[in-house]
Amino acid sequence: MSSSPIEAVENAVRGALRAAFGGPDQPLDPQVRSSGFADFQSNAALGLAHALGRSPRDIAAALVAALQPRAEIERVEISGPGYLNVWIADEWLSRRIVETPPPNEAVGETVVIDYSSPNVAKQMHVGHLRTTIVGDALARIHEALGNTVIRQNHIGDWGTPFGMLLEHVIDVGGHATGSYTVAQMADLYKASRQRFDLEEGFADRARGRVVKLQSEDAETIAVWQHLVDSSIDYFTETYRVLGVTMQPKDIAGESSYRHELDEIADELTARGLTRVSEGALCVFPDGFTSRRGAPLPLIIRKSDGGYTYAATDLAAIRRRVSAFGASRLLYVVGEPQHVHFMMLFATARAAGWLPETTRAEHVQIGNVLGGDGKILRSRSGETPSLASALVAAVESAEEQLREGDGRVDDEHVRDDARIIGVGALKFADLITHHDAEYVFDIERMLKPQGQTGPYVQYAVMRIKRILARAGEGARRDAVVRIAAPQERVLALRLSDFERAISDAARLSQPHLIAEHLVSVAQLFNEFYDRCPVLKAETPEVRGSRLSLCRLTGVQLVEGLGLLGIDVPTAM
Ligand code: ARG
Repeated sequence: MSSSPIEAVENAVRGALRAAFGGPDQPLDPQVRSSGFADFQSNAALGLAHALGRSPRDIAAALVAALQPRAEIERVEISGPGYLNVWIADEWLSRRIVETPPPNEAVGETVVIDYSSPNVAKQMHVGHLRTTIVGDALARIHEALGNTVIRQNHIGDWGTPFGMLLEHVIDVGGHATGSYTVAQMADLYKASRQRFDLEEGFADRARGRVVKLQSEDAETIAVWQHLVDSSIDYFTETYRVLGVTMQPKDIAGESSYRHELDEIADELTARGLTRVSEGALCVFPDGFTSRRGAPLPLIIRKSDGGYTYAATDLAAIRRRVSAFGASRLLYVVGEPQHVHFMMLFATARAAGWLPETTRAEHVQIGNVLGGDGKILRSRSGETPSLASALVAAVESAEEQLREGDGRVDDEHVRDDARIIGVGALKFADLITHHDAEYVFDIERMLKPQGQTGPYVQYAVMRIKRILARAGEGARRDAVVRIAAPQERVLALRLSDFERAISDAARLSQPHLIAEHLVSVAQLFNEFYDRCPVLKAETPEVRGSRLSLCRLTGVQLVEGLGLLGIDVPTAM
């Protein structure tokens, strides 16, 4: 009893395909999906008919004849041009739903997840929310499956961008006082940028400061460290408010690789992979060309001797594979960096740092758009900072609780508002396919209807209230007896949870879990509208329905937990 209903049907159809047509040259794809006409429908006969030049209904009939009797399947009918309509057995489903199967994804992987990775001395804005939230959900999902997860916060804390900032900070002598706030750092950054553009001689001094940083001049390093520490305080506080599991110990910033870069360049050169082009040390990995067909370089060292973002990322791959033993590398990073990662992986494979046994994936994060449909950019003034977006979400949740629900003196109201507000932001992010663009709209995220966090949280609240009212009646060992159609569809969906989790992990698509939860909440609401629970006709039916409520509640809470979302005490 380990498979989900859809997998049970897939196995049955695959078995029949093999029994009836099993040549090694036949495609044996069972092609099963949920259907409005039955529980599931398989297109296998239509696919095969084409390949064999026979009528699909004929093939469907042969498949029905070859289907082995199974406890999972109630009946199979041929419909239309040759679809197989399949119904799951109530009895099987009733048992399946109370037994949690073991996870079917192979465990024992070591997954290194690079996510969040903000830049020192800069605000995190709503765009950073997505990599942080999606990466954190993937980390939680892999951990739940029993994989070893190593989080890596590859913060931007080194290199040329620091020249002008450090030069300016040292000029104004600001580094002597306590920790900087992020707003102070942003102001310093802006001022240094202005001087870089306008003030004569400043640009040269800034370049000189980069050299001092790279040669680890004591004063320069002290100021730099101060900015890094202040930024880490700010990141850590942001993660705490967001309920994100990334910790200070997970930080492995660009600077942490700075002593390995000569070695990276030397090894690449020793393997004959580099070429000097216009004074820069480059790799030209196979298969990457510009629009005009010229080979594209991955620049390792610029003509001024400075190492690049790519050199650092190569050192990071080497560390993650050889020191951490990664079997899978995930980079949860914005979509504009896709070519960078593809060239990086190709180079690391050629250099022998990324063996075939380690999968490397760029989990592309789509752009966040404003209400006007334009990309929100950190430079344009109107991009909401993450902090202000969070405050806005939590404030409107609190207003709703106090004014809408009348919870004025309630001691939990603040915590609940935070859980609802943060949950709404996270859920909006996670219900979207990670590489799709999405419009940042707090009002829509907080809606109690639709594909939102509050909608799922509200279903949990509803279930809690039912169970509380049932009191003793909500016995934990009660048996489930599937009878009504609303019970069936709910139970079918509930038993698909493990599959949603392992698919989310395998494909790096946490939205599969978010979608699953929305659909469970919807089916639960339909069930609850049509099937009386506390006033069920017999004690057996009442017990069965209460169990179904409890199982639904447990699954929703667990699923939200995988996405990093809590549930409030009430809403
Ligand atoms: N700090 C970079 C940025 O803000 C993201 C780093 C992503 N991770 C990596 N290993 N390159 O664009």
